[in-house]
Amino acid sequence: MQSSIMSSLRAEAIDAPASQIIEIIKYADGKDDITPLWAGQGVLPTPDFICDAATRSLAAGETFYTYQRGISELREAIARYHERLYGRPFDPERFFVVGSGMQAIQMAVRMVAGPGDEIVLPTPAWPNLSAAVGIASAKAVEVPMQFRPEGWHLDLDALFGACTERTKAIFINSPSNPTGWVADEAELRAILAFAREKGIWIIADEIYTRFYYGEGRDTAPSFYEIMDEDDRILFVNSFSKNWAMTGWRVGWISAPPAMGDIIENLIQYSTSGVAVFMQRAAIAALEDGEAFVAKQIEQARVGRSKLLEAFEGNNQLRFAAPKGSFYFFFGLADEPDAWPLTKQLVDEAKVGLAPGFAFGQSGCAFMRLCFATTSEQMDRAVMRLNRWLSARDAMPERVLDLEQA
Ligand SMILES: Cc1ncc(COP(=O)(O)O)c(C=O)c1O
Repeated sequence: MQSSIMSSLRAEAIDAPASQIIEIIKYADGKDDITPLWAGQGVLPTPDFICDAATRSLAAGETFYTYQRGISELREAIARYHERLYGRPFDPERFFVVGSGMQAIQMAVRMVAGPGDEIVLPTPAWPNLSAAVGIASAKAVEVPMQFRPEGWHLDLDALFGACTERTKAIFINSPSNPTGWVADEAELRAILAFAREKGIWIIADEIYTRFYYGEGRDTAPSFYEIMDEDDRILFVNSFSKNWAMTGWRVGWISAPPAMGDIIENLIQYSTSGVAVFMQRAAIAALEDGEAFVAKQIEQARVGRSKLLEAFEGNNQLRFAAPKGSFYFFFGLADEPDAWPLTKQLVDEAKVGLAPGFAFGQSGCAFMRLCFATTSEQMDRAVMRLNRWLSARDAMPERVLDLEQA
C-alpha cells in the first residue's frame, strides 16, 4: 500500500533530498547544554516595532485577500530601501512580494528552467538552491570553488566552461552562505558580460549584502551597481536575516518590470499573495529598521572578530576569514571529512555546527558556524572549541572526555 502510494508520486518529489543541516540537529536531539550555531539565524527575536505593525493591521481588519504582487506601500518601501543602498531611483514595479527568500528562489528557478535544463552554481552553496532546481526537473551543475587561506576563489573559466546550450541560468550567491566569499566588481562584470553574450539568466542571491566586512563600502558589491534595468537578472531577497524575521516567511523578487503579469500569475497560482498584516510588518522593518539592522551587523562583526582573534594563526585549522555573510566555514587541517568531527564537537565540545557536506562535495572538509549571535554565546563557543582543540592536539587518538565548559 505504502509503496503503491509512493510509486504514484512524481520522482522529483520523492527524490527531493532531506536538508543535511538537519542531520546534526537530529544527532544532537536530547543532548544537554549544546551551544547551537548550526542554523542560519541570529538569536534576537523580531523587534517590537515590527510585530506591532502586524498586530495593528490585524486589529484594523486587514484580513482579506490581497494584491498578488504585494501592496503598493510595501513595493514602494522596497524601492526606497534599494535607493538608499545604491543611491539611484528604483521602479516599485520591479519588486514582487513573496513568501520568503526560499519561495523567491523556487519561483525564479521555475521561471527560467524546466526538464532537461541546467542551472550552474558555484559550491559550497546553501543546499536549498540545488534542491529547488531538482524539484523543477532541471539539473544543478556544481562548479566547485577553491579554498585558499586568503579567501575562497571562484574560477570564472570553470564557471563559464560549465555552461552549455542547456544552461538557462547562473546562480550567484554573494556574500555566500556558507563560505563568506564575496564577488568583487570585476567578477560581477565578467559574469554579467558572459550572461548577456549567451542570453542566459543570472539568479542573484544577495540576501547577505548588508553583512560585508570589506573596506571602503557598507554593502557588498552588487549586480545592481553595474546592470541595466532590463538585464536578465532575477534578484531573490528576504526579510529573514536583516530584520530577524526568519519565522515570518516573507521576501521579495526583483525582476525587469516587463515581467509583472507573469510573476503576478505565478504568485496567484501558488500562495496568491503574502498576508497583508505581514506586509505591514515588512514596511515597518524597511522604514524604521535601520538602527536594528545596524545592531545586527555590529553583532556579527563582533562575532567574526572573536573567531578571527581566537583562531588566526592556529595551524590545526583551515579557514578563510569571511568577507561577508555571517558564517565561519572551517575545517581541521588533517581531516578531509568533517562529518565525524561535527558529531564529536556535539558530544565532546558541546558546540553544534552544520556539517560541510550539506553544502556540496566541495564542502566536505568544513563545518559552518553561524556567528550572528550574542557576545556571550560566541565567547562560550570559542572557549569550548579552543579546549577541544587543545585536548585533541595533546591526545589526538583518544575519545575526548572534557569537563563541561
Ligand atoms: C543564501 C540564502 N538564500 C536564501 C535564503 C532564504 O531565506 P528565507 O527563506 O528565510 O527568506 C537563505 C537562508 O538561509 C540563504 O542562506
